[in-house]
Amino acid sequence: MSILTCNHVTLGYDGVPILSDINFSVGQDTYLCVIGENGAGKSTLVKGILGLIKPMSGRIETGDGLKANEIGYLPQQTQIQKDFPASVREVVVSGRINSMGWRPFMTKKDYAEADKNMELLGITNLRDHCYQDLSGGQQQRVLLARALCATKKLLLLDEPVSGLDPVAARDMYELTSMINKEQGIAIIMVSHDLDEAMKYSNHILHLSHKQLFFGKTRDYIAGEDGGVVNPIERYLKRDAANHSRKVEPAASVPYDASAKIKRQEENNG
Ligand SMILES: Nc1ncnc2c1ncn2[C@@H]1O[C@H](COP(=O)(O)OP(=O)(O)OP(=O)(O)O)[C@@H](O)[C@H]1O
Ligand SMILES: [Mg+2]
Repeated sequence: MSILTCNHVTLGYDGVPILSDINFSVGQDTYLCVIGENGAGKSTLVKGILGLIKPMSGRIETGDGLKANEIGYLPQQTQIQKDFPASVREVVVSGRINSMGWRPFMTKKDYAEADKNMELLGITNLRDHCYQDLSGGQQQRVLLARALCATKKLLLLDEPVSGLDPVAARDMYELTSMINKEQGIAIIMVSHDLDEAMKYSNHILHLSHKQLFFGKTRDYIAGEDGGVVNPIERYLKRDAANHSRKVEPAASVPYDASAKIKRQEENNG
């Protein structure tokens, strides 16, 4: 059963479409990576899903008990967020704001939820630290715990690993994968990191102002021609077909697809 469906959705600003005819759905076990070049419309889709902008046409629907204000969101980082002057615990508990209703203050239950999510992500020891003094990787863990406080069903992450070193980036993929499998929370992650996206996701949405691909990750890697290639080559081929650009085959890049396909099969059960 789908918890989120985009049906022929077109999104844009001031009447000018940025992203046209988007069609995909997300189930409870989905780990979807959204990929595409800078300016392709990935963050625009995120804003559409969050209800911050309305579709120019088509429908974005939530299902299976998910309400639009129960999506845990980790935004694309800005300098202002990095310099936020609050303790880690205050940042994490602020994820509960949408569930407060008319209550003007946080309750013990809100703080208990924040503490539980800090424990899950291994940041309890940072609880009273100032958020702006943390490393980039620690800050992203805090924002992930904050997003978790807002949802039981769907996390929406816009480039959570950009600017992180490879170890911290791998950490974020491992944590989101654990949340997906062990907490049963669906993940939608915007990422420019093709290799990791292919490894951890079970579905791919490739955008370039329209939908170039939506489906299982193993089908994305295999492609319509059935040939398994390096994901970067597959990405460039789809992008080039869209822009009518010629791409030289990366024949010199040997690629062991079997490990990745095996991982996909494990992910897809
Ligand atoms: N508020 C806005 N008003 C008008 N145009 C906008 C607005 N926000 C984004 N755009 C335009 O929409 C297009 C897509 O932007 P978007 O932020 O969705 O791209 P993106 O795929 O997330 O890119 P990146 O990988 O750089 O984050 C860009 O041309 C951008 O300038
Ligand atoms: Mg973006």
